Amino acid sequence: MKNLIDKAFYTHNLSYEELIYLIKDEQFNEYLYSKADETRKIFVGDEIHLRGLIEFSNICKNNCQYCGLQKNNHKIDRYKMSIDEIYQTAKQAVIMGYKTIVLQSGESEVYSVDELCKIIRKIKLLNVAITLSIGEKNSDEYKELKEAGADRFLLRIETTSPKLYKALHPSMSLSKRMACLHYLKKIGFETGTGNLIGLPNQTDESIANDILFFKELDADMVGLGPFIPHNDTPLGNYKGGTFEKALKVMAITRLLMPNINIPATTAMETLNPNGRIIALQSGANVVMPNVNETKYRSKYEIYPNKICINDNPDKCRNCIEAKIKSIGRTISQTKGFRLHK
Ligand code: 5AD
Ligand code: FES
Repeated sequence: MKNLIDKAFYTHNLSYEELIYLIKDEQFNEYLYSKADETRKIFVGDEIHLRGLIEFSNICKNNCQYCGLQKNNHKIDRYKMSIDEIYQTAKQAVIMGYKTIVLQSGESEVYSVDELCKIIRKIKLLNVAITLSIGEKNSDEYKELKEAGADRFLLRIETTSPKLYKALHPSMSLSKRMACLHYLKKIGFETGTGNLIGLPNQTDESIANDILFFKELDADMVGLGPFIPHNDTPLGNYKGGTFEKALKVMAITRLLMPNINIPATTAMETLNPNGRIIALQSGANVVMPNVNETKYRSKYEIYPNKICINDNPDKCRNCIEAKIKSIGRTISQTKGFRLHK
C-alpha cells in the first residue's frame, strides 16, 4: 500500500484498480495525508487562497435528493438578494482583503443572464476574480457570463455513477452535466468540480471513477465533502458520509492532480470542529469563508449544522486568518489562479 501511495506521489497516476485498492485501505491514512501535504507544498506552496463566498439566493428549481435547498422543501424561507445588495456584500469582502468573490445560488432563472452579467461587470471593477456557482445554463448563456468577466465556474458532478446520478437528480442528466463541464473548460473558465462522499448506495468503485473523471476533465479545482443528511429531504434518514473518507478522497485527488486548487470545505468542518485545518494539512490550499450578512445564513441550509450560521463576515475572516497562522501558513495576496507547473 505504501508503494501505491509512493507511486501516486511520483507519477500522479493510478489505474482504476489501484484507486479502488487505495480508497478501501484503512491502514495507511496518515502516510497518505502526509504525502498529499508534501505534494501540496511542492506544487502550490504554503499560501492559502481565501475566496469570499456570497450565497446570493436559495431559490432552486431542482430536486437534488440530498440537498436542503431543493424545490420540494417548503420549510425554508426563500430569498434573493438584490443586485445592489450583492454588490455591497462583494465590496465589503474586497475591503476585508478577499481577492476572489464566489457568487453561489440555487439553480433558477430568477435573475436573468443580463442581470447576472451586470453584477459581474460591476464587481470586476473592484479588481477581483469572480467565480460563479449557479448551476446549469445553456452554452450561449455560459459564453455571455464569461464575456462579462467571470473567471471561474464551479459545478460539482456530485457522482459519475449513471445509476446513482439518476436516482439522486430527478429530471437532470449526467451526460448534460458532463457536457456543461467540458464546455465551461473549452470557453476558458477555470473549471471546478467535485463530488459527495458517502451518498446512499455509493460504492468505492464509483468514487474511483469520480476521481478519474476529475483527471480526464483536467479540472482546475476540485471541492468535495461528506454527504450530510438533511431532515427535510427524502434522504433525511440515511446514514451520511464520514469526515475521514472525504479527507481520504481529497488527499488522493491532490496526489493525482498536484497543481490544482483544492478547498478545505465547509461540510468537512461541519463533521469535525478542526476539519478545515486538518484538510489544509492533507492536501487542500483554499478556504471559502462566508461573507454574507448573518440574516441570510440560516436560510442557506444545504445540510444541517452548517458552520458560521450565527457569525458575520468579520468574525469569519478573523477566525480563519487566526487558524491559518496557527499552522504556519500564509494568506495569499494574489487572485490565486491555478499554477501550471
Ligand atoms: N450534504 C453535503 N453536501 C451537500 N451538497 C448539497 N447537499 C448536501 C448535503 N446534504 C453540496 C453539493 C453541492 C454543493 C453546493 O453542496 O455537492 O454541489
Ligand atoms: Fe466563520 Fe470561523 S469561519 S466563525
